Amino acid sequence: MEPNDLEQSSAFYAPLLNTPSSGDGAPAAATWRRSLKGYGVILASLVFLLSLVALIMNQSQEVPLPSPNIASAPKLEPASFLIPEARGIAEGVSAKSNPSLLKEVAFNWTNAMFSWQRTAYHFQPEKNWMNDPNGPLYYKGWYHLFYQYNPFSAIWGNITWGHAVSRDLIHWLYLPLAMVPDQWFDIYGVWTGSATFLPDGKIVMLYTGKTNGSVQVQNLAYPANLSDPLLLHWDKYPGNPVMVPPPGIQDDDFRDPTTAWVGPDGKWRVTIGSRFNTTLGLSLVYQTKNFIDYELLDGVLHAVPGTGMWECVDFYPVAINGSLGLDTSAMGPGIKHVLKASLDDTKVDHYAIGTYDPIKDKWTPDNPKMDVGIGLRVDYGRYYASKTFFDPHTQRRILWGWINETDTENADLRKGWASLQTIPRTVLFDNKTGTHLLQWPVKEVESLRLNSTVFKDVLVEAGSIVPLDIGTATQLDIVAEFEIEQLESSTTDEASDCGNGAVERNTFGPFGILVIADDSLSELTPVFFRPVNTSDGSLNTYFCTDEKRSSKANDVFKQVYGGEVPVLEDEKYNMRVLVDHSIVESFAQGGRTVISSRVYPTEAIYGAARLFLFNNATGVNVKATLKIWDLNSAFIRPFPFGETTI
Ligand SMILES: *[C@@H]1O[C@H](CO)[C@@H](O)[C@H](O)[C@H]1NC(C)=O
Ligand SMILES: *[C@@H]1O[C@H](CO)[C@@H](O)[C@H](O)[C@H]1NC(C)=O
Ligand SMILES: *[C@@H]1O[C@H](CO)[C@@H](O)[C@H](O)[C@H]1NC(C)=O
Ligand SMILES: *[C@@H]1O[C@H](CO)[C@@H](O)[C@H](O)[C@H]1NC(C)=O
Ligand SMILES: *[C@@H]1O[C@H](CO)[C@@H](O)[C@H](O)[C@H]1NC(C)=O
Ligand SMILES: *[C@@H]1O[C@H](CO)[C@@H](O)[C@H](O)[C@H]1NC(C)=O
Ligand SMILES: *[C@@H]1O[C@H](CO)[C@@H](O)[C@H](O)[C@H]1NC(C)=O
Ligand SMILES: *[C@@H]1O[C@H](CO)[C@@H](O)[C@H](O)[C@H]1NC(C)=O
Ligand SMILES: *[C@@H]1O[C@H](CO)[C@@H](O)[C@H](O)[C@H]1NC(C)=O
Ligand SMILES: *[C@@H]1O[C@H](CO)[C@@H](O)[C@H](O)[C@H]1NC(C)=O
Ligand SMILES: *[C@@H]1O[C@H](CO)[C@@H](O)[C@H](O)[C@H]1NC(C)=O
Repeated sequence: MEPNDLEQSSAFYAPLLNTPSSGDGAPAAATWRRSLKGYGVILASLVFLLSLVALIMNQSQEVPLPSPNIASAPKLEPASFLIPEARGIAEGVSAKSNPSLLKEVAFNWTNAMFSWQRTAYHFQPEKNWMNDPNGPLYYKGWYHLFYQYNPFSAIWGNITWGHAVSRDLIHWLYLPLAMVPDQWFDIYGVWTGSATFLPDGKIVMLYTGKTNGSVQVQNLAYPANLSDPLLLHWDKYPGNPVMVPPPGIQDDDFRDPTTAWVGPDGKWRVTIGSRFNTTLGLSLVYQTKNFIDYELLDGVLHAVPGTGMWECVDFYPVAINGSLGLDTSAMGPGIKHVLKASLDDTKVDHYAIGTYDPIKDKWTPDNPKMDVGIGLRVDYGRYYASKTFFDPHTQRRILWGWINETDTENADLRKGWASLQTIPRTVLFDNKTGTHLLQWPVKEVESLRLNSTVFKDVLVEAGSIVPLDIGTATQLDIVAEFEIEQLESSTTDEASDCGNGAVERNTFGPFGILVIADDSLSELTPVFFRPVNTSDGSLNTYFCTDEKRSSKANDVFKQVYGGEVPVLEDEKYNMRVLVDHSIVESFAQGGRTVISSRVYPTEAIYGAARLFLFNNATGVNVKATLKIWDLNSAFIRPFPFGETTI
């Protein structure tokens, strides 16, 4: 779609936001569902319901279940230890705590250890609980980030919209809460939502509210004062909710509206994740002209059997050519569309690349075997509820993602905070593979780079470890390249994934770096490649992070994370790793495969944290070239209201 078309489309919606047409106020709860729309809608909903049943019947022959290494089955716990349900599930959202950690012996954490875990350049609130990024946008010189926030505690609950602004996506200023649960249509939570810019410069925010009757509904809000670059005050449309769960969709399976896009007919569309009959994950599409009245379209944008509830759906275009991001409404030749869903069942963000048909409002994956939820992951580590936005200022599409704590709630309460956002990442179509996205830390993070050291062609022999003498290694930006020299022939019966981590030795790997390690290697977190011989003679490469030895404490999760990464013939193995205390974000092959890890060391902290190269392959020597920067801390603080210059 050309910008001109977008301009013209403004003729199709009324300037509603100035004149909320809600003369009779909020409809009574007993009738609001029916009173919203007439029989026409009920009929349309029946058609919609039938189309879902048809979808299930058509696909029931061949139900692709998530494969075991994509979503590992939960371990069976001994009956003697009954683990309570995780926080959040009873309230109709995904799990927000890790009660299974309670069966571990509590470590004697000290305040110094807890203090060290707080990050220096990742966004986190001053205190308390945060989860999903919400409504990210750029407005009048400021990047805005809203986020799911509990103002009262370091555990999930009482969810409001926290708010912060930044000039550069790195240094942040906290603002007062943007929205709190104060209306019947969001009294049990102001949940996740997305922003849409209208062609006349207005902003609409669609978000999920949990009503006084525990129903998930979609609500409309808008800035009270568009002249205010800080967008401090938000008005909720008095006629909310604007969308309620349609027939066939359960009251608590209807959440997280996307940014809207405008179709060739000038009508806006918004998609909302859900599920049907427990296991059919899907995304509904609604059309609107005015953001008040919505029509549920027949069928769905897309559905994948066996994937369960889709949360936080994200739907956006990427350019096949070039290095710029696209406005959410862009479509046409040279453009593919990414569909992302956060899978409630597995707590994993999955995406697939495909084609959007704006006439039928259907999306089709390029490769059905790599469909949403059964193929690629946004991030192979600890990562969820991600959301992109288009930054018109720099023509980038920027991705935010929520990283939770993997320690106990008791620890979080003692620390006084829980959860981080990733470093914002640019997202581009990988025009070399044609199958992946490329995620890369926004270039602004480089403004934190201090002094650096280059290590050139360091030989790391099979089975060896080489210290990198850079002193304290807690805030780093590491760029590393590896070449391998084969010493012995390999077989094809070796671990063909991340295996048991860095302790599992193959002919070609693992090799990489050890971050957040102490001198005696009593704690260490390997980030590594593991190329594996395949029967057709080529190498498949896995990119992995191994947290197993990251901490002496038992009461934290320690997993081996990773996934396959395409390494093309003309490419060396390359990784970029951002280390920031308890978070390690790792990007392989320019961002084709990404892993975010949380680590809670007890010894490898403060001045004791070191960096090493390692090569645990049995049959190759590795030559490594690295550039390593110390990173400064970002300045993240309350907005200095009253000061004249910022
Ligand atoms: C923790 O510290 C207390 C008191 O210092 C001690 O009694 C206890 O044995 C320690 N627990 C562990 C698991 O080390
Ligand atoms: C929510 O807020 C209420 C007070 O408004 C408080 O009593 C309750 O403990 C809070 N719950 C959580 C989980 O923070
Ligand atoms: C929810 O709030 C509405 C509006 O105040 C009210 O009419 C309705 O009775 C309430 N419903 C429940 C279940 O409390
Ligand atoms: C709107 O914001 C502008 C810029 O911050 C401010 O000057 C103006 O007073 C605000 N208007 C109202 C009604 O608050
Ligand atoms: C829902 O799934 C169950 C079990 O797979 C099946 O028996 C039933 O027919 C399905 N219902 C609909 C409406 O498709
Ligand atoms: C391929 O993508 C890169 C960005 O990843 C971009 O710089 C380059 O221009 C693209 N190549 C073509 C032919 O569009
Ligand atoms: C992509 O780039 C190539 C080479 O520059 C060009 O020939 C082609 O037309 C471009 N395709 C699109 C869809 O822009
Ligand atoms: C948070 O972390 C725990 C522990 O690793 C995990 O089990 C849980 O599913 C996570 N929750 C989400 C929403 O990612
Ligand atoms: C940066 O400089 C400090 C002080 O000279 C030094 O100890 C440290 O190793 C340097 N860091 C890097 C990554 O070069
Ligand atoms: C892979 O394994 C096969 C059979 O075991 C062997 O013939 C081949 O040389 C191996 N490839 C490499 C690159 O080592
Ligand atoms: C390499 O593998 C051996 C054998 O499993 C293990 O003892 C050692 O700790 C591994 N090295 C690293 C750095 O993980």
